Amino acid sequence: MAKLIIVSNRLPVKLQEKEGKLTYKPSEGGLATGLGSIYKEGDNIWIGWPGMVVEDAEKQQQIHEDLHKESMHPVFLSEAEIKEFYEGFSNETLWPTFHYFSQYAIYDQNLWETYVEVNQKFCDEVVAQAGPEDTIWVHDYQLLLLPSMLREKLPDATIGFFLHIPFPSYEVFRLLPWRKEILEGMLGADLLGYHTYDDMRHFLSSVNRIIGHGSMHGWINTGSRSLLVDSFPMGIDYEKYATVAGSDEVKKRENIYRANFKNQKIILSIDRLDYSKGIPQRLKAFEMFLERYPEFHEKVTLVMLVVPSRDAVEKYKELKEEVDELVGRINGKYSHINWNPIQYFYRSYPLETLSAFYRMADVALVTPMRDGMNLVCKEYIASKLDQKGVLILSEMAGASKELSEALLINPNDINQLVESLHAALVMPEEEQVQHMRNMQVSLRRYNIHHWVSMFMDRLAYVKIKQLSLATS
Ligand code: F6P
Repeated sequence: MAKLIIVSNRLPVKLQEKEGKLTYKPSEGGLATGLGSIYKEGDNIWIGWPGMVVEDAEKQQQIHEDLHKESMHPVFLSEAEIKEFYEGFSNETLWPTFHYFSQYAIYDQNLWETYVEVNQKFCDEVVAQAGPEDTIWVHDYQLLLLPSMLREKLPDATIGFFLHIPFPSYEVFRLLPWRKEILEGMLGADLLGYHTYDDMRHFLSSVNRIIGHGSMHGWINTGSRSLLVDSFPMGIDYEKYATVAGSDEVKKRENIYRANFKNQKIILSIDRLDYSKGIPQRLKAFEMFLERYPEFHEKVTLVMLVVPSRDAVEKYKELKEEVDELVGRINGKYSHINWNPIQYFYRSYPLETLSAFYRMADVALVTPMRDGMNLVCKEYIASKLDQKGVLILSEMAGASKELSEALLINPNDINQLVESLHAALVMPEEEQVQHMRNMQVSLRRYNIHHWVSMFMDRLAYVKIKQLSLATS
C-alpha cells in the first residue's frame, strides 16, 4: 500500500537517557505538535533525528526497534554533525538569514560541507524506506537540499517540500554564499509550500534572479521538469486543543493556578527561547506599561513561559542572559511583598499546563520580530472556550495574515505595544467575545487536517499536470 513518508530534522519525540534507561518525550515546536496527529495514520512513517547523540550500535538497534513500533525511523547524527549541521549551518547560518537577522549569520565552508553530507544521510534513509508509489514530504530549512538529492535517486518520485520559517526577500537571501545550490536543492520537489503569499513571492523572485527561471501562476519550468510553488497557511489540531481545554484535569489545574493571582489580570507569553520571538522587546514594553499605567500595579501579572532551545548556540546563550537580567531588573523595580509583576518559568511544560494557562490568560502577547506562522496564538484561541480574552499579535508572524481580528502590532513600535496592552486590558467583554468567536470559526475550519489535505491534493494535481505537460 502507498504510504506517506514525512521527513524532518527532528522526530516528534525526543530521546533522553536517565540512569541508563531510554525515555521518549514529545518534541517542542510547531512542526512536531502540528503533524503529530497525522503521521500515525495507515502505513505512514516519519524519518528524523531522535534528538540525542547515540554512538553505541546496540543502543541504536534498540532505539530503531522502539521507534519502529511508533512508525518512526531514526537518522542518527554524530556529535560533530550536531555541531556543524544542526547548531552550525542550520541555526547559525540559515535560521538568522531567513529571519532577517543576517548580522548574526556565520558563513563557513566547513559547516556548509557538513550540511550537504547530512542531507545526503537523510536521503539514503528515505531511499531505503521509499516504495515506488509512496509520497515523500520533506520539511523545513535543515533539509533544503534533500528534494534534489532524492530526485536524482528516484526520478519519478512524488516529492513535496514545506518551509516552516519565513523565506526572506531576495536582497537578504542573496547574501548566502551557497544561494544557488540551496535553490537548486529545493527545486527537486514537485510542490514547494510556504505559509504565506509573501514568502512564496520572495522565493520566486530569488529563483528568477539567481537561477534565471521565471514563473507563471506559481509554476516554474526548469527546462527538464515543471513544479509548482504555492502558499498553505498551517493550521492546528483545533479539536485537540479545545477538548483538552474543556477537560476536568485542565479546569482543576486552572483553579489551582488562579488562586495565586487573585484580583489580577493575566498576560501570557509562551515561546521557545529565540531572538526571533522578540522576548526582550516584549519585556521592555511591559516595563514601560507599568511605568505609564501605575493603576495596574498589583492588578496585572505577566506570566512568561520560555522553553529552552538550542542552548549550545552562542546567540541563544546571550539571549538567555539578557532575558534573565531584564526580568530581574523589572521585578526588582516593581515587586511588592505580595506581587511580582513577572512570573518567569524557563522550562518546558506538558499540554495540560499550557492549556490551563491559555484558559486563564486575559491577554496573550505573541510579538515575534519574525515568525513563519506561529501556532501558539492559534492554540490560545482554540483553548478559549468562554471566548473571553484578547490576542495581541505581531504583524511579522505569518498568522497575522489570517487573524486580522487580533490587536495587530509592529514589534519594533514599543509605544504601540504599550497602548495595545492597555487597550486589551480594558476591552469590554462583548468585544472580546465577538473577535474571539470569529477567529475560532476560521481556525476550526482551516485546521491541521485541512492543511494536510490541501497540500496533498495539490501535490497529486501537480503529478497529473506534469504528465499532461509531458505528453502535450
Ligand atoms: O519553526 C521551525 C522549527 O524547525 C520547527 O520545526 C520547530 O518549531 C522549531 O523550529 C524547533 O527547533 P529545534 O528542532 O531546533 O528545536
